[in-house]
Amino acid sequence: MSEQPDQVLEELRRRTAGLNLPRHVAIIMDGNGRWAQERGLPRTEGHFEGRKATKRVVRACGALGIEALSLYAFSSENWRRSAHEVEVILDLIELALREEIHELDEANIRFRASGRLGELPESLALLLKRAEADLSENTGMVLNLCVNYGGRAEIVDAARAVAERAREGELDPRELDEEAFAEYLYQPDLPDLDLLVRPGGEMRISNFLLWQVAYAEIIILPVFWPDFREEHLGEVLFEYNQRQRRFGRA
Ligand code: IPE
Ligand code: IPE
Ligand code: MG
Repeated sequence: MSEQPDQVLEELRRRTAGLNLPRHVAIIMDGNGRWAQERGLPRTEGHFEGRKATKRVVRACGALGIEALSLYAFSSENWRRSAHEVEVILDLIELALREEIHELDEANIRFRASGRLGELPESLALLLKRAEADLSENTGMVLNLCVNYGGRAEIVDAARAVAERAREGELDPRELDEEAFAEYLYQPDLPDLDLLVRPGGEMRISNFLLWQVAYAEIIILPVFWPDFREEHLGEVLFEYNQRQRRFGRA
C-alpha cells in the first residue's frame, strides 16, 4: 500500500526536525532521459515522470519552510536537442504551470521565472510573467523556475545593464563592487544560494547559477530525477547539516 502524501510529509518533517535548513536550495533536475532509456521508453517519457518529482519536491520544500527553491527546467544549451524533445519539454513546462498554479497559490508560494524569456514561445513567456504577477502577494517560499536559463547569459545580461547605467551617467564604474553588481542579476532579492543538488550523478554545474554557486554546498546523487522522492530530500538536508561551511575562514 502506498503512503498518503500527508504521511510522507509528516515523516520528512520528523526526519528533518532540529536541522539547520538551507535558506535557498537549487536543483539541477537531471536524469530524465536516462530514466526512460533504462526502461526502453522514449526520453520524453522521462520528462513526464520528472514532472511528478518536481511536484513532490516543490510541495515538500514549501512545507518545510525553505525560503527559496531554484529549479533548472531548461538550459540555454538545451536548444541543441532534437526539435521534438525541445517542444515536448517546453510544452510540458507550460502545461504543468497552468495546471499547478492554483495549488501553488493555495500553498502560499511565490513564483519567479529566470532566463531569457523573450526567446521562448510567446504563450510560455506570457504564462511565466502572469504566474509571477498572480502569486506576487503570497508570502511563502519563492519558486524560481529557470527556463532558457544560462549562468553566463545571466552575468552578461547583468553586465549589459550595468554598462547601460554607466553610459547614462547614473553609475560610477569605480563604485561597482560585488554587492552592487549582484543587484543586476535576475533575482537580486533571493537569499544567497546555500545548497545545490544534482540528481543523475553528473559532477558538473552545466552553466547553472554560476555567480550564486560561489559558496554553495554541492550534493550529487546517483538517482535519476524521476526517482527523486521526499526521502532523498531528507537525506540531502541531513548531509547539508554535516557540512562545515567556512567561507574561506580557517
Ligand atoms: C533533465 O534530464 C531534463 C532537461 C534537461 C530538460 P535529461 O533530459 O538531461 O536527462 P539525461 O541527463 O539525458 O538522462
Ligand atoms: C542541465 O542538464 C539542464 C537541466 C537539468 C535543465 P543537462 O542534461 O542539459 O546537462 P549536461 O548537458 O549533461 O551538462
Ligand atoms: Mg541531462
